[in-house]
Order: sequence, then structure tokens, then C-alpha cells
Amino acid sequence: MTDHPANAAATDDHGALLRAEDVFRTYRMGRVEVPVLKGASISVRAGEWVSILGSSGSGKSTLLHILGGLDRADRGHVAFRGEDIVGYSPRRLDRYRNDHVGFVFQFYHLLPELTVLENTMLPATVGVGMFEWARRKHEVRDRARALLDRFGLSHRFRHRPAELSGGERQRVAIARALMRNPEVLLADEPTGNLDAKTGESLLEVIAEQHRAGLTIVMVTHDQWIAARGDRTVHLVDGRVA
Ligand SMILES: Nc1ncnc2c1ncn2[C@@H]1O[C@H](COP(=O)(O)OP(=O)(O)OP(=O)(O)O)[C@@H](O)[C@H]1O
Ligand SMILES: [Mg+2]
Repeated sequence: MTDHPANAAATDDHGALLRAEDVFRTYRMGRVEVPVLKGASISVRAGEWVSILGSSGSGKSTLLHILGGLDRADRGHVAFRGEDIVGYSPRRLDRYRNDHVGFVFQFYHLLPELTVLENTMLPATVGVGMFEWARRKHEVRDRARALLDRFGLSHRFRHRPAELSGGERQRVAIARALMRNPEVLLADEPTGNLDAKTGESLLEVIAEQHRAGLTIVMVTHDQWIAARGDRTVHLVDGRVA
């Protein structure tokens, strides 16, 4: 797919497509407060691949979730194309996530009871009424097939996730993340659960999307994997160093 709209996407005054500024996030575990992000800032330009490197527990996933609207900052700004998403209503935040962001997680998060093709199509079914679905079903299925085909999974359409290898599952997860043609792909340790060789081929799939213009933010604790991106930032003590 070479239809990423990222290159044409509007950016804010800072030239950023996605930007977090002075973000704070504290979790409460009973009476204990765990401050995770303490003024983290990051700016990602359209078409850029930024790697976020940090030790375990440093808040990488937290920051990624906040960037993608899966979690909310307690304080600070998160702007997509210059528009702050922090004050969005839950519904608006859902829309932001569905329309602009693709997520890939370390542990795939595929639905076990659905086939590969159904898992991939899933994001395109969210919030779609029966009539619209009847009208769009073929187009959605064609896109899902094309993506899976591209990632070498055309022989796996009808399989369920449990019947796939880790690398295959993660390729399905990427196909699903790209289903709605997002402007930015947020990947949380996408190779963390794969052996070196499988991880490498997965990174090549991501790199190909990047060459086609997709903006990527990838979290990892491996500096060699981070180095695949254009730029690496370090998350240390709740801030981006
Ligand atoms: N929902 C939550 N409730 C309570 N504490 C949380 C929650 N999510 C994360 N934390 C805590 O916040 C800290 C940072 O977590 P986070 O998952 O962002 O780290 P990470 O850098 O992604 O780590 P890893 O490399 O192990 O994935 C950890 O101490 C974690 O226990
Ligand atoms: Mg994490």
C-alpha cells in the first residue's frame, strides 16, 4: 500500500504531526501513587520514524498509549496536527484513535475466535451501521486481503490466530493496524516476542511502510532495533532526554 496520507497531512506550527508537551501521568495503586511521566515531551514530524528507547518500567507504553488516545494525560498537551486531544470527549477520542492511529502491541492482541481475515477487517467494522456495512463489505474485504497478501499471509485467511506462528500473528496485527489507512503507526515492542530472524523480517515490513510515507513511533528497549528508525529518543525518569 502506498496510499499513506501522512506526507500530505497538515502539521502544526512546530512542523509536527503528533506532539506531546510536558505530559504528566501518575497511576494510583490503592494508596500508593506511582508517577510515571513527569513532563515528557516528544515531537514527531509527518513521515518520520521515531524510536522511543527506555528501560522496563520507564513509561514507554504509557507514553505511547497517551499519544494514541488509549490513555489520558493528567496534565500537559497532546496535539495531533496542532489540535489538542487531551480535552476530547471519550467519543471524540475514539474517533481520533479509529481514524488516524494504528496500534501494534507486543502480544498481538488478536481476537482468538476470529479468523485472520476477520481480525484484519475488524477496525473497518467499528461504528458502521448495517446498511453501510452491506454497501462497503466487499471493499473492506478486498483491502484486508490485499494487506494480508502483501505481508505474505494469503494462505492464512481462514486460519485462527492460535494456528499461526508469532511472526505471522504480528504481521496480521500490522495488517489490522493499517486497515483504516492511519496517518501514524504506534508500535509497542512489536518484535519483543519474536526470535531475532522473525523480528528482522517484521521490522522490514514496518520499514517498507515507512518508506511508503507512514509516520511511525516505535517503542523498544533494544538500541539496535531503535536504530532502524530515523531518530531515537530516550525515556529516562519520566522525561524524554
Ligand atoms: N494501568 C496501570 N495502573 C497502575 N500502574 C501502571 C499502569 N500502567 C503502568 N503502570 C506502572 O507504570 C510504570 C510504567 O509502565 P509502562 O508500562 O509504561 O512501562 P514500559 O516502559 O512500557 O515498561 P516495559 O518495557 O516493561 O514494557 C510501571 O511501574 C507500571 O507498573
Ligand atoms: Mg511497555
